[in-house]
Amino acid sequence: MNTLTLIRPDDWHLHLRDGDKLACTVADSARQFQRAIIMPNLLPPITTVALAEAYRQRIIKHIPPGAKFEPLMTLYLTDNADVKEIISAAAHPSIQAVKLYPAGATTHSEFGVTKLENIYSVLSAMEEHQLPLLVHGEVTHGDIFDREAIFLDEVLTPLMKRFPNLRIVLEHISTKAAADFVKDASTYLAATITPHHLRYTRDQLLVGGLKPHYYCLPILKCAADREALIAAATSGNPKYFLGTDSAPHSIANKQSSCGCAGIYNSFAALPLYAEVFATANALDKLEGFSSFYGADFYRLPRNTETLTLIQESWEIPEQLAFGHEQVIPLGAGECLSWRLS
Ligand code: NCD
Ligand code: ZN
Repeated sequence: MNTLTLIRPDDWHLHLRDGDKLACTVADSARQFQRAIIMPNLLPPITTVALAEAYRQRIIKHIPPGAKFEPLMTLYLTDNADVKEIISAAAHPSIQAVKLYPAGATTHSEFGVTKLENIYSVLSAMEEHQLPLLVHGEVTHGDIFDREAIFLDEVLTPLMKRFPNLRIVLEHISTKAAADFVKDASTYLAATITPHHLRYTRDQLLVGGLKPHYYCLPILKCAADREALIAAATSGNPKYFLGTDSAPHSIANKQSSCGCAGIYNSFAALPLYAEVFATANALDKLEGFSSFYGADFYRLPRNTETLTLIQESWEIPEQLAFGHEQVIPLGAGECLSWRLS
């Protein structure tokens, strides 16, 4: 039987949600990942060290017995973000980064930053105290398919010029423009790539009927964008690493006249990535992308335990329990050729 053993991967972009949802989301991630960067876009958002620590405690309670899983917490930037809070976050062992949501860009971003000028002093403190900035890289104007590319020009370029020593992760890149931008930028910029942007294009969402479970932000793009993302992820360039952006919403909230953006992919995240790398004849590049480059960028030790995948066909379930509701996982009903051992 064909097997693939990797140093245990980490997920550098994850939404676990809260309350009764944590039982399923934490278990699904803990099966595959040793650490995960936990997104702070709860309602209300995680804006302080105290809120992050309380959320971390709620997460830890749901780690299944015997599993090792370390949630790495983040703070949510608002226009009123406080320099003192940022400095104490930088000194806190469980807080690893701060997240910038342009106000209105995505799910629960209504408390986000309206003008970058409002947070210059905070960004300067992060640069000084070496706390990475994670960005949702989309503007809130222009065509939905162009918003990431516009962000690169209008926001990211001037931001990197003003704060050249700030480490920045451009999250869930979805375009060739973003992949190229990251490749050409300084080593202070890296990017995460999701399994859905590697596997699908907008046709999956829109052709043959509207399929809301493939709706996320940034929205799925065209074939040339997807090809550029596959090339980036499988290149062995340490600027690109794994971040699922697994972002579950209940079936009711997805299948609605105004459905939420977000895809639940944690259930089969590693098998989904493995499939992409295998198809690109690049399974030898999976370990760097999944288990090394993110840790290196965050300046954390690499993991030492391993995870084994087996080449064996299996089918992703049609739906999963999600607290007292249900969620449709990415690739529901599809056959994958790699599974967790
Ligand atoms: C995320 C969510 O639902 O929290 N949605 C998404 O489509 N990715 C927010 C985000 O990361 O943009
Ligand atoms: Zn996200």
